[in-house]
Amino acid sequence: MNPPGVAGAETRKHGGEPLTVAQPFLIQQQWDAYTGEQHAVWAELVRRRMPQLREHAAEEYLNGFEQIGLREDTIPNLADVNRRLGPRTGWNATPVSGFLPPDAFFEMLGARQFPTTTYIRSREAMEYTPEPDIFHDVFGHVPMHAHPVFADFLQHYGRVSAALMHDKDKLEKMGRLFWFTVEVGVILQKGKVKLYGSGLISSHGEGTHVIEGKPEIRDFNLDQVLEQRFLVSEEQKVLYAVESFDQIYEAAQEAEKRLG
Ligand SMILES: [Fe+2]
Repeated sequence: MNPPGVAGAETRKHGGEPLTVAQPFLIQQQWDAYTGEQHAVWAELVRRRMPQLREHAAEEYLNGFEQIGLREDTIPNLADVNRRLGPRTGWNATPVSGFLPPDAFFEMLGARQFPTTTYIRSREAMEYTPEPDIFHDVFGHVPMHAHPVFADFLQHYGRVSAALMHDKDKLEKMGRLFWFTVEVGVILQKGKVKLYGSGLISSHGEGTHVIEGKPEIRDFNLDQVLEQRFLVSEEQKVLYAVESFDQIYEAAQEAEKRLG
């Protein structure tokens, strides 16, 4: 973590405004400090997911994976990822020390900076880690940030949510929109259900659960999503499928009109 006042190169908001609330959580990624074992854990996680994802992930996810230069064999160096990602959509994967409080999280999304942990899970927690880690954050989330519509959606989501910080109920509804899109979102492509949510992308168990047809897949409906309760720790019983990413962009605009 940076000492106060020592901001790294990535502490500026899109447009040059410095991050304020999130500033104490920003760190540098010490890429050279990763051990061979840690790179091996990354490699094993990626190799386990890719055969399923090549068939069942949204094409935008797979394109993003290539575009930002993720590799199967080594933990990504975020500076390299950002050199490729930044020119595409203005997003950055910005290293942070761990879970962020909501106001810091939303501030970063509004600034097109995705809070990214640098820690990687141990071999004992290959399937599930309660703490966020670089595999979930980068492998699961960041490839979608290379897609222009998703990129715009996520920033807008952050701005709308930041403006609702005073209202717990509305913020909870926005949390549901995040969950059923960014975390466990699916999309219909060529008549098939494809994964794009980070939780489904990064978890072999969750991804398999969906591919095996276990959850009920409903057409995306903002009214339902805003009211749909969920448990993070359980396999999902209901998912909402969009037909294009324009739909989630429009959902964030509509949520702003209804809740803002
Ligand atoms: Fe996530």
